[in-house]
Amino acid sequence: MTRWLITGAGGQLATHAFEQLTDAGDNVVALDEHQFDITDADIVTATLAEHRPDVLLNAAAYTAVDAAEEHEDVASRVNELGPRLLAQALSSQGGRLLHVSTDYVFAGDATAPYEIDDPVDPQNAYGRTKLAGERAVRAALPDRSHVVRTAWVYGGPSANFVDTMLRLEQERDTVNVVTDEVGCPTYVADLATGLIALGRAGVPAGTLHFVNSGQASRFDFAREIFRLAGADPERVRPTDSSSFVTAAKRPAWSVLSSAAWVAAGLAKPRRWQDALADKLSRP
Ligand SMILES: NC(=O)c1ccc[n+]([C@@H]2O[C@H](COP(=O)([O-])OP(=O)(O)OC[C@H]3O[C@@H](n4cnc5c(N)ncnc54)[C@H](OP(=O)(O)O)[C@@H]3O)[C@@H](O)[C@H]2O)c1
Repeated sequence: MTRWLITGAGGQLATHAFEQLTDAGDNVVALDEHQFDITDADIVTATLAEHRPDVLLNAAAYTAVDAAEEHEDVASRVNELGPRLLAQALSSQGGRLLHVSTDYVFAGDATAPYEIDDPVDPQNAYGRTKLAGERAVRAALPDRSHVVRTAWVYGGPSANFVDTMLRLEQERDTVNVVTDEVGCPTYVADLATGLIALGRAGVPAGTLHFVNSGQASRFDFAREIFRLAGADPERVRPTDSSSFVTAAKRPAWSVLSSAAWVAAGLAKPRRWQDALADKLSRP
């Protein structure tokens, strides 16, 4: 039976991937930052030698996009050094690496969905460190790694846009949300299912995108969250990023194409509206 090891336990992706693999009766171990700090070379070597995974899902990351502007060195350790150490260790002992990356590697000025080999040009520190991580993985483990870019992940347990909107719906009469940031809302349970399918399939190494189908602005996304929660969507008011300043610049339009994912024989992700409705129908 395939042995799975998951890093970053307690995060959104690790939690859902672990649950799904456990439910399916797979042999899986998930370790959190205290049990397995992926930035410590000795710990990486020892932990991988102990567990000898056939598939290592790296769900650990520094995901605080705004804080990364001030702490790029810390973000870089988790998002670049960590994946490099994992890939190097697997290259000598065997096993495959599923490494997760982001739409923020792209500039966000496209007009058609980004394909896997489109030029990258990150606009913030988080995106730069994630791009460096992609490159480190490909360099150290070219034949046994997948870099899977995703976007706008929600579903918990850690902080995410859907939970923030549900909280604001309770706290405020109206909520201003930007219309000039467009991307692909992605339910973490769908991402986990997709990555597990990838880990089981004989897809050649390389880069892929996995996002729920379709596209939305943050405003569209927020209105749909309100609607599905039984609240009046009109309480979500349009604004733009000029009046909503954040430390990190976000790509304005970072829709990812899942064409390569489907061409690899993997199931086409469902529409983001259907995935969101599924998530919000759960207790
Ligand atoms: N969330 C999104 O919207 C989004 C969008 C695009 C791509 N992605 C990518 O998708 C992947 C999964 O994201 P997610 O939303 O599941 O992230 P998440 O909820 O923030 O989980 C990341 C986990 O990594 C842990 N971690 C941090 N430093 C670590 C270290 N040195 N060693 C081991 N673990 C460490 C974190 O622990 P602490 O919480 O204790 O620090 C956290 O539990 C990441 O690669 C992320 O970059 C996410």
